[in-house]
Amino acid sequence: MIDIHVHILPGFDDGAADTQMAIKMAEMAVTNGIHHIIATPHIIHKVSEHTCDEIKTAAAQLNMLLAQENIPLKIYPGAEYYLEPDLTARAAAGELQTLNNSQYLLVELPAAQVPPYTEQILYELQIQGLKPIIAHPERNNGFISNPKLLSELTNRGNICQITTGSVVGIFGQRVKKTALHFLRQGWGHLIASDAHSNHKRTPQLLSAAGEIKKIGGEKLSQTLLFDNPSSIIDGKPIQPLASIKTSKSFFHFTNLKLQ
Ligand SMILES: [Fe+2]
Repeated sequence: MIDIHVHILPGFDDGAADTQMAIKMAEMAVTNGIHHIIATPHIIHKVSEHTCDEIKTAAAQLNMLLAQENIPLKIYPGAEYYLEPDLTARAAAGELQTLNNSQYLLVELPAAQVPPYTEQILYELQIQGLKPIIAHPERNNGFISNPKLLSELTNRGNICQITTGSVVGIFGQRVKKTALHFLRQGWGHLIASDAHSNHKRTPQLLSAAGEIKKIGGEKLSQTLLFDNPSSIIDGKPIQPLASIKTSKSFFHFTNLKLQ
């Protein structure tokens, strides 16, 4: 399996504190059936700033270490960008580390709200040929209180990543309920762990499978946990979801293509 959102680069952010913890996270990932991870350190002005070169170098160093330790896991470069007004300019300057150097860019909104400039920035990123992936919208208070905002963004071709822990309830019932609602609406395109350590928010995907199957059966589980993460790491188009109905007996996929 492929986990496209993991804070595993040692000492980069509030994820793996050191190499020892990164190794423990890697071992845990493999135990959970994950053999490919995109490392996505937070990139936030004046809080957590890292260049593409720094990320690539750290990913390569971690890969060497994993090989020495005989851990069958490969790390790919990525990042999780805080939605800041100058993100478009930084994209134009070639400063952004996309997911495994693909067109996919992982973007995190402030947890408390959906800033008024969100739609415009995501649109401008798309104009530049990027495909924004909104990280864990189910944990954003703006989307929780007004899901229509997310509906509008997904209608405009933005992709949403739902977090494993949200689906199984580690962030509370409100977030779990929201995550399941977004999935029923077809607004969640893939699952990732957003793991930060080996003990609290950990690298795992399959624990979400039970709840997802209740919504859309094996087909949805396969798409969210396997097919779409695989397409992202390969830089291929993901399988779009356009379910409208919330009934468990009615869940369908359309042939609509995301741009
Ligand atoms: Fe994250």
